[in-house]
Formats: sequence, C-alpha cells, structure tokens
Amino acid sequence: MSSHKNVIIFLDTDKYTSPFDMLVAIDFYPDAQIISYSNVEVSDAKRLIQDAMFPRGPEGAKHTKVFIGGQDVDKALQILEVIKKSMFPPFELSVIIDPRGSNTTASSAVAKTMKLFKEKGFGDFKGKTAAILAGTGPVGVVAARLYASEGGNVVLTSRKLDRAKEAADKINEELGTKQVCGVQAATPEETGEAIKDADVILACGAAGIQLLSLSVLEKYGKKCKVLGDINAVPPLGIEGVKATHKGKEFIPGKFGIGALAIGPLKIQIEGEMFKQAVESPNGIVDYKTAYEIAKKLA
Ligand SMILES: NC(=O)c1ccc[n+]([C@@H]2O[C@H](COP(=O)([O-])OP(=O)(O)OC[C@H]3O[C@@H](n4cnc5c(N)ncnc54)[C@H](OP(=O)(O)O)[C@@H]3O)[C@@H](O)[C@H]2O)c1
Repeated sequence: MSSHKNVIIFLDTDKYTSPFDMLVAIDFYPDAQIISYSNVEVSDAKRLIQDAMFPRGPEGAKHTKVFIGGQDVDKALQILEVIKKSMFPPFELSVIIDPRGSNTTASSAVAKTMKLFKEKGFGDFKGKTAAILAGTGPVGVVAARLYASEGGNVVLTSRKLDRAKEAADKINEELGTKQVCGVQAATPEETGEAIKDADVILACGAAGIQLLSLSVLEKYGKKCKVLGDINAVPPLGIEGVKATHKGKEFIPGKFGIGALAIGPLKIQIEGEMFKQAVESPNGIVDYKTAYEIAKKLA
C-alpha cells in the first residue's frame, strides 16, 4: 500500500477555477486532495508541471493528477502540449483535459446518437453522414472528430463560410483525412442544403439559439433518422426535439435525443475520466478516452 494521498491539481485558464469540474472530482474521489490554479497561461505550464512532478518522488508522481480546464480551448490544448513535452519517466503524471466540457459533452452526444442509430437498425455509420449544426464551437469540433472516427462523413456548419472551412480544415489535417466539410448555414435554405444528405444531425449551437426549424427539417431532412441537441436553454436547437427526449420518435422515422439525456452521461464520463486518471500511474486522458468511456456507458 502506498502512503501517498491522491492529489488532483486543477489548471484552469479562467479567472476562477470552475467549481463544476472540482465537484465532479470530489464526488468520484472524496478522499483526494484538490489544489487549483486559475488564470493559467501557456507560459506558466512548464514551471507548474515540474513543481508537481518532483517533490513526491516517482512513487508520489503516480498519485499526482492534473486536470486542464477553462473556457479557452486553444489555450488549454497548448498547455497540454507544454505539459507533455515537460514530463519524462519516472515522473510522468496522469493528465485529464476537458476545456469547456467539450470532450465529455461531445463524447456523450456522439455516443448517444450512434447507439440510437444502431439500435434502430440503421447499421454501421461507415460512409454515412453527420451534419453538425453550429459546429465551430468547442463541443462541435470534438463531435466532428468523433463522427469521423466512426467512419462517417461530416458536414460542419457555421454562419460564416470561412469559420466553417477553417474548423473543418483543422480537423482534416489532424485526422489526415478529408471526411469533414465546412459549409455556411446562415439562412434556412442554407441549413436545408447542409442537412439534405445527413443520416444524423447534431445541433451544437450556443445556448438558447434555434438552428433548425421543423419545416426545414421536413422539407430537406428526408434522409435523417437520428437528431441530437445539446442546448438545454429554450428555444432549443432543433424544433421538435425536446430536452427530455431519449430516443423518442418525434416525427415518423426521426428519433430525438435532447440535452437532458446528454447531460447526465457527460457527468458520468467525466467521473470515469477522473477514475481512469487516478487508477493509472500516468497517461493522457483526452477526448479519445472520453469517447471510449462514453461508448461503454451510453
Ligand atoms: N447538454 C450538456 O451536457 C451540455 C454540456 C456543455 C455544454 N452544453 C451546451 O452546448 C452548446 C455548445 O457549447 P459550446 O461551448 O461548444 O458553444 P459555443 O461556442 O457557445 O457556440 C457554438 C457555436 O454556436 C454558434 N452561434 C453562436 N451564436 C449564434 C447565433 N446567435 N445564431 C446561430 N449560431 C450561433 C457559433 O458558430 P458560428 O459563429 O461559427 O456560426 C458558435 O461557434 C451550448 O448550448 C451549451 O450550453 C451542453
């Protein structure tokens, strides 16, 4: 038995470390000690991680965990890169990354829609199409990677063509594929064009914004079978999909998953990410881990 206590160090890019992630950690690991830093800059990351790596020795390092969070996803990813470069054996720590809840929320939404797609007998997602409405935000970008990892093609929309293309190009470059296509959806007609080949639609817009009306869905979305919406604030992202829907056939042949079905799984995934980090001596717990967990729990 090790005498080292588990310690989770929160590195948050925001002015205040989010209580959300700390509370999830406390619920899953009530005995862990939590240390938090806010306003963390990329230039602080090397010093902070090295000061976490050494004082407890190699055995203590196995019990020292880092969580990178905050609203600034790009900054969080840069902090992760600095941390990865700064660590070396035998002082490697487990590092969890979930800025703005993006990895856990996207994993929950994609796993739920994929499970429903298979359950309803629509088969494998390889070669099928997902349309991610307002996919330029943190959740949408991770969701695009995950649908692509399922072998699907992805249409990612934005109100601005250049933003959609920029997000899609970045994901294609990371994945080394051309599965993601960025398109503009600033009008109902453009949204209709964006969804016309979609088997699955996921609305990832900012809270309280309707992205798809029932009339546009009925006119253009004939192929679509499963629709997910992560926005819990009225008006919801997709007209007809209620926040409480858990696979309900809300119009013939179309099944909806609402934000209140996606939220609880998101929390469970986050808890399991802490569990995985606490139970492993080291390793990066990122969106890929989140999705593996999501697929098991969905
Ligand atoms: N259910 C859950 O468990 C859960 C957990 C976390 C977050 N959420 C929800 O997830 C959603 C997405 O979060 P996020 O942080 O990724 O979103 P976000 O960055 O706030 O917004 C996503 C995209 O929405 C588009 N958008 C913003 N204002 C708009 C408007 N007035 N009209 C049309 N499009 C607009 C923007 O795209 P363009 O500017 O490129 O058009 C933006 O990139 C939010 O609704 C959040 O509340 C849900």
